[in-house]
Amino acid sequence: MTSPLPVVRSTLALRQQVAAWRAAGLSIGFVPTMGALHEGHLSLVCAAKERCQRVVASLFVNPRQFAPHEDFERYPRDEAGDSALLASAGCDLLYAPERAAMYPDGFATNVIVADVSAPLEGEFRPHFFGGVATVVTKLLMQALPDTAFFGEKDYQQLLVIKRLARDLDIPVEIVGCPTIREADGLAMSSRNAYLSADERRIAARLNMVLHDAIKAMRAGAAAEAAEREAESHLIAAGFSGVDYVAVRDAATLGPLRDLNTPARILAAAWLGKTRLIDNIAL
Ligand code: PAJ
Repeated sequence: MTSPLPVVRSTLALRQQVAAWRAAGLSIGFVPTMGALHEGHLSLVCAAKERCQRVVASLFVNPRQFAPHEDFERYPRDEAGDSALLASAGCDLLYAPERAAMYPDGFATNVIVADVSAPLEGEFRPHFFGGVATVVTKLLMQALPDTAFFGEKDYQQLLVIKRLARDLDIPVEIVGCPTIREADGLAMSSRNAYLSADERRIAARLNMVLHDAIKAMRAGAAAEAAEREAESHLIAAGFSGVDYVAVRDAATLGPLRDLNTPARILAAAWLGKTRLIDNIAL
């Protein structure tokens, strides 16, 4: 049995612990999350443990990255379960701030990262990256870690966070970690808990369709034809809507100009009320 994970809820307590570790010469890794943890999140804790001597995870369901019609209220919450999982993964400290401490009355600052926030998720969830960039900037400034770990599952988010850390001179290394999947290829996500048994079966098609699109492109199909084909396969498989399937430059998420530069295929699609995203390298 692992011992319970220490939790702090104020920036002051977080900084005191991090400062004490730093004074003892220890390196600090940081894993921000919104909880409802699964093996994808825990893989980030493992990556942090490999590179850093102490690991802090945060748990904060960030209201600013949800639009009013989105799932903020019903987003799964289980701090006790999450805390036990983090402890068994070897995490050293949980930072779980209250909403009023993160966003006190009069909070007025918004971090907007241009360019890389604009397409894809930025088009379909225009509020999203402002909310993510603002909270991640705050979390990084609060924890002041040496290294912070994010999943490639949210590939565009990873690029946005790398850009804001660079642009704002936040002294932290941002590390991207591979997507952890279920046996049938479905990317693990806290939102998979929303899926009915039927939807769960269909959900696995999202990743397969992306692999098929890459195969078609390797066999000579144009990117645009492969994107449209993938979209119609998703609808035929039972998805209720497709926001996008897009082949993009992996560094900028702009159009792919040259097949020899690193590329990524990214998709967002709906199963009933649940929106799933996935992406893979070409
Ligand atoms: P959340 O969805 O809880 O994800 C927390 C971290 O886990 C993110 O870096 C995400 O990319 C990573 N992750 C999620 N599923 C994964 C998987 N299957 N494999 C690998 N990594 C995975 O992303 C957020 O929270 C928030 O936007 C946050 C960055 C915490 C800001 O509020």
